[in-house]
Amino acid sequence: MSNTEESHTSAGLVYVLLVLIAYPIFRALHNVFFHPLSDIPGPRAWSASRLPFIWSLLRGTLVHDVERLHWKYGPVVRIAPDEVTFADADAYPDIFQARSDSKPFLKDPVWWETQPGLPDTILSAINPEKHARIRRILAPGFTLRALRDQEPILHQYVNLLVDRLRESALESSEAQVDLVPWLNFTTFDIIGDLGFGDSFNCLQHSRYHPWTAMLFSTVKAAAWVASARYYPLIEFILLKCIPPSLMKTQTDHYQRISNKVDRRLNFEMERPDVLSYVIKKREEEAVPIGEINSTFMILTTAGSETTATLLSGIMNYLVNCPDKLNTLKHEVRHNFNTSDDITLEALKDLPYLNAVINEGFRMCPPVPWVLPRRVPHGGSTVCGTWLPGGTAVSVQAYTMNRSPSYFHCASSFIPERWLPEVHGNPESPFSKDSRGVIQPFSLGPRSCLGQNLAMAELRLIISKLVWAFDFEAIDGNVLKWDDLRVFLLIEKKPIQVKIKPRSEVPAEA
Ligand code: HEM
Repeated sequence: MSNTEESHTSAGLVYVLLVLIAYPIFRALHNVFFHPLSDIPGPRAWSASRLPFIWSLLRGTLVHDVERLHWKYGPVVRIAPDEVTFADADAYPDIFQARSDSKPFLKDPVWWETQPGLPDTILSAINPEKHARIRRILAPGFTLRALRDQEPILHQYVNLLVDRLRESALESSEAQVDLVPWLNFTTFDIIGDLGFGDSFNCLQHSRYHPWTAMLFSTVKAAAWVASARYYPLIEFILLKCIPPSLMKTQTDHYQRISNKVDRRLNFEMERPDVLSYVIKKREEEAVPIGEINSTFMILTTAGSETTATLLSGIMNYLVNCPDKLNTLKHEVRHNFNTSDDITLEALKDLPYLNAVINEGFRMCPPVPWVLPRRVPHGGSTVCGTWLPGGTAVSVQAYTMNRSPSYFHCASSFIPERWLPEVHGNPESPFSKDSRGVIQPFSLGPRSCLGQNLAMAELRLIISKLVWAFDFEAIDGNVLKWDDLRVFLLIEKKPIQVKIKPRSEVPAEA
């Protein structure tokens, strides 16, 4: 190479290098000072680049970091160049409900676009017509009427949980258990049986099914996939680097679910599980079977992990607040002579039990931030703030639920605030609590389809546990819920407690 050619090549390299360095700086400066979202408060680093958001997401500290940002900057915070998050109760209806003044805010494809080769699910379908079609097919299996027929199946698993715990409790006078796996076993078995008529038998064998072990890693992987999607080149490389064994695990998992669904669809058992309603629907219209299979795959996580998390959170607070646990115990034991008397109909109106569950939703929301939506083309307003089309918007349930601007003694577990005689009393400091802020199941056409089932599981499991056992915290072994990491869902840690079968069981029990 001649000297002139050499100097041209080096000049070219320097130029490319300069562009590579200058472009991100230029982009960052543009994002901070000239972007349409520049006026929205937020830390400069987060407004300049997506990286601080991704770093926080992958460390599992996003909801806590964003909570601190809301304290500093207020209820509307820019947390990425093209994303704004809200800790304001009005954000729920503005983003999630149908509005006459705005087109709908659809799910953000970064989070919801399905992996190549997998059909859409009820959760992932972004197109409203497609989503409505899947939801219409599944909805009859989740009504209160369906739940009445499903109630015996719920009792069967909750009773098995109590039997298994009793065996552990009787092992020694100082028996201890970690409640977390047991609660997970129960909700996972229930969704298997109620979903496709085939329990995962975790309670039966007192151990996780191999799928359950995979569940949380799938949720964590979703955070990685979304992070990569912000940088299409990285996503492309990552997809190319996925080991074939991992791809196989995923296809095997999908295949196993498809087989279960297929078996159930072709075997018309007379039982009231969710698929029995899909079988009936098939007589009236074509059912997209790939989407039903995928939906059941995702339901095993969405329908078990969320409920198990809340149950764990509530039991953790109760054992660490013995006065609250005693009040609940008294209510349940006073109302039911035998465990068999406990029914969903009777539990619906137990004031303290329902107050405990509501307070659980407030302190330990299983979905601590509802994943982002995109502002529709042409722009729209959220909480009075105008945002250009394409802006990602999310709602921070965790921050709002613990905000002193919405709740008195916001960071303490106080079920009493939900009792009508307390919040209805103008003299009570809790009368000014903004109870409507708590929307654990979200709102609108994408709100939780399984909320009746979730409430039934929560009421049955908590009441049967406190009816049958005395629980006690172990000194020096307190789990601080706020310390748990969040990867879309909450990464639980063991909740080790002392457990004893209740001492005074009534004669007829
Ligand atoms: C305490 C327990 C639960 C909580 C807090 C909860 C919360 C939520 C939330 C916040 C959403 C909306 C997510 C979004 O729009 O981004 C959702 C959706 C959904 N949940 Fe739940 N969930 C729970 C239990 C369940 C159970 C037990 C099932 C079913 C067995 C279930 C099935 C679903 C389905 C199918 C959707 C998607 C609805 C749609 O897009 O049309 N959930 N849930």
